[in-house]
Amino acid sequence: MNRIEGKLILITGASSGIGAACARRFAAEGAKLVLWARRVDRLERLSADLRERHATSALLAQVDVRDRAAVNRAAGDLVAGGHVPDVLINNAGLASGMSKIHEGDPEDWDRMIDTNLKGLLNVTRAILPHMVARRRGHVVNLGSTAGHMTYPQGNVYNATKYGVRALSEGMNLDVAGTPIRVSSVDPGFAETEFSEVRFHGDAARAKAVYRGFQPLTADDIADAIAYVVNLPEHVNVLDMVIVPTAQRNVYVVDRNES
Ligand SMILES: NC(=O)c1ccc[n+]([C@@H]2O[C@H](COP(=O)([O-])OP(=O)(O)OC[C@H]3O[C@@H](n4cnc5c(N)ncnc54)[C@H](OP(=O)(O)O)[C@@H]3O)[C@@H](O)[C@H]2O)c1
Repeated sequence: MNRIEGKLILITGASSGIGAACARRFAAEGAKLVLWARRVDRLERLSADLRERHATSALLAQVDVRDRAAVNRAAGDLVAGGHVPDVLINNAGLASGMSKIHEGDPEDWDRMIDTNLKGLLNVTRAILPHMVARRRGHVVNLGSTAGHMTYPQGNVYNATKYGVRALSEGMNLDVAGTPIRVSSVDPGFAETEFSEVRFHGDAARAKAVYRGFQPLTADDIADAIAYVVNLPEHVNVLDMVIVPTAQRNVYVVDRNES
């Protein structure tokens, strides 16, 4: 049964990877979309493609989730136009750098904390009150296996994703008394632009992350998110951990190096 059709779904970080895959998947299921990211040119190309394939028109906005005023403005515009999202996918996020804590770059730390934690909070604070007011909505946060177990040199990224896990749990408690759901979808290795961003554009180093095994694709995660969103209102997935079969824990991977 398709419970996605007709829903208004806001996706942050829709210009790439998992966010863009969710946009394509939800458009195919007949959802209406609101797509946010900094690279609005990419959103425009995605939206044109969705219009052609699925006759979906998406509402687009250039939003840096770290910029609270911009988030509030975009959310205000939406609500003023009568568009309260049925589903919020808090997907915008990144890893920046990978180094020992005593050698880490505080600029990387700021980028991760400001995006993964404060950005998610900015968007949630702007959208969730409207869901609570009408007693309808579903928030899906993108956590990570990195929020379940630390790995060498993952330190601050791990901390942000542990934080996202705490926020998902906390949000779910705070909407008690309403039918609103809060879910966390926590992927392991998925081949997107994630590693290229982490390694500041070093494409060869990014490629090596996925060498010797079959990683998840962004579409695999979009599939999992669509499952979570499509469940009936009395069913809530609190936390879905999804990894490639070769990934045995957060950093143990069966690699075929031959
Ligand atoms: N790939 C993985 O292995 C993996 C595993 C576990 C969890 N995750 C999580 O999944 C989410 C999506 O990552 P991905 O793998 O799809 O990576 P990606 O391909 O690099 O996509 C990241 C998206 O986040 C957006 N973004 C980053 N900073 C932003 C900001 N300040 N404001 C608004 N949007 C911002 C980017 O858009 P703009 O640059 O255009 O703003 C982009 O659309 C992240 O939360 C990530 O932590 C990924």
